[in-house]
Amino acid sequence: PVILILWAILGYIAGSIPFGMVLARLMGLGNLRDIGSGNIGATNVLRTGNKKAAALTLLFDAAKGAVVVLLARALAGEAAAQLAALAAMLGHCFPVWLKFNGGKGVATFLGIMLALAWPVGIGCCLAWLVAVAATRVSSMGALAAASVSTMLLVILNFGYMLMLGIALTLLLFVRHRANIHRIKAGNEPKIGQK
Ligand code: G3P
Repeated sequence: PVILILWAILGYIAGSIPFGMVLARLMGLGNLRDIGSGNIGATNVLRTGNKKAAALTLLFDAAKGAVVVLLARALAGEAAAQLAALAAMLGHCFPVWLKFNGGKGVATFLGIMLALAWPVGIGCCLAWLVAVAATRVSSMGALAAASVSTMLLVILNFGYMLMLGIALTLLLFVRHRANIHRIKAGNEPKIGQK
């Protein structure tokens, strides 16, 4: 159990690094809280107009989830990997450094899925792309990706990850409450719109 607790802590710390915020500051793009949705993710970084910063945010937010679960799996096994995955997602969504008000977990979710069950991860990325191609709305991609994940876990024989998949999906939906309200109201901005 000590080793599991250790990986949970490491997962949380890795997940809690707000790369979008750090990159926006380093690249002189200002405080993300004052821009667009105020979120710390790649979609909101893109609203600064800096595509490179947005791409790097996507990459690093995904990588922090992927790296910590791959390390946990290699060094401590499957239970540690799944615990680290959940902790990384919690770290991204509720980082202690930002008074527990963090991001929405999309990039981190995709990174975790690609690392733990790559066929499922690819399916989730495709669902994101299809939904965004159809709607131009980033949060629609996120909700689509999370929605297909549990189904893909079952179909593609990753049923042992189902509980984790459900937990991550619920977290992602909870963090998109404001987006879901805006989608229903018809005023969720399209990608790149302020
Ligand atoms: O990356 C999160 C995305 O799904 C929505 O972001 O800034 O439009 O709320 P945002």
